[in-house]
Amino acid sequence: MKFLVTGGAGYIGSHMVNFLLKKNHDVTIFDNLSTGKFINKNRIKFEKVDLINLSKLNKSMKNKKFDAVFHFAGLSIVSESEKKTKKYYLNNVLATKNLIKSMIKYNINNLIFSSSASVYGLPTTKKISENHRTRPISEYGKNKKEIEKILIKFGKKKNFKSISFRYFNAAGADESAKIGESHHPETHLIPKVLESVKHRKKNMYVYGNTYNTKDGTCIRDYIHVNDIARAHYYGLKKFKNRKCTLTYNIGTGRGHSVLEILNGIEKITKKKLNIIFKRKRKGDPPILVADCKKIFKELKWKPKYKNINTILLTAWKWHKKT
Ligand code: UFG
Repeated sequence: MKFLVTGGAGYIGSHMVNFLLKKNHDVTIFDNLSTGKFINKNRIKFEKVDLINLSKLNKSMKNKKFDAVFHFAGLSIVSESEKKTKKYYLNNVLATKNLIKSMIKYNINNLIFSSSASVYGLPTTKKISENHRTRPISEYGKNKKEIEKILIKFGKKKNFKSISFRYFNAAGADESAKIGESHHPETHLIPKVLESVKHRKKNMYVYGNTYNTKDGTCIRDYIHVNDIARAHYYGLKKFKNRKCTLTYNIGTGRGHSVLEILNGIEKITKKKLNIIFKRKRKGDPPILVADCKKIFKELKWKPKYKNINTILLTAWKWHKKT
């Protein structure tokens, strides 16, 4: 089949591209390379396209007849979204609107959208299911929620199908150690700590140890990036339905505290960390763990990476090599 991957040079997008290539699909990437890095692969068609530029996007989309579009392009640093509200709105919400417009213009009707658990805001239940209220507490989460709403609107009016996947904490790297996670600035726990270990910096900052959790630090549901890619692939079968506007959580259903992650990193890197407790980070919910019943049942998907240390090891292999 013929697929477009927007943001295919980024962290999750590049793993999706890898997955599709392994299945021998025809893959095109549109990426503006603002944060991603394209590792040249001769089986991929790459176009430097910024979704904000609708006329350029239309030119690139014309005559391509993609069977489906995987949309990962966007900005994803939660703290930055608070300061650069307009930039985030433009690159996330307006860019996605352009993508939908362009798809409709060329009769491409199947979109898989990279949403986030940040749409939920502060959880009111132990595990979060898809029908939990959505009350995002960051601009980034608000962007994702607005896009999901736009997709619902188009799903009602036009012959447009979509699936929004709400990721919990994407983690790890492909076993090949050729692609992995890195952001600028790095704010994500796992890559930040692994980079520090690599550069022999011992001090690790834990934001808050007085949360109402088992060890006082925040709990997150870490899901391997290749499990995320596989879930997207399984999602494609839903496009056979006459109508399709769906939402699924992608997580493991298990939570790990920040201290557990740091312990795991000490184990796999065989380095002792110097843990320093700092003030709570603004906007951090104490616990974010997915209720995955819906995706387990409807897509027959289950995570393959169940052990957090295995996930951490894949990430470490990549960081060591880069
Ligand atoms: N943390 C530290 N020290 C650090 C970095 C992070 O203690 O140096 C803590 C954070 O406070 C948080 C946990 O580690 O408790 C995980 O933080 P990340 O930044 O790795 O991830 P988040 O949970 O903040 O963000 C993730 C996704 C976002 C998504 C968000 C939903 O990466 O894309 O969940 O709330 F929007």
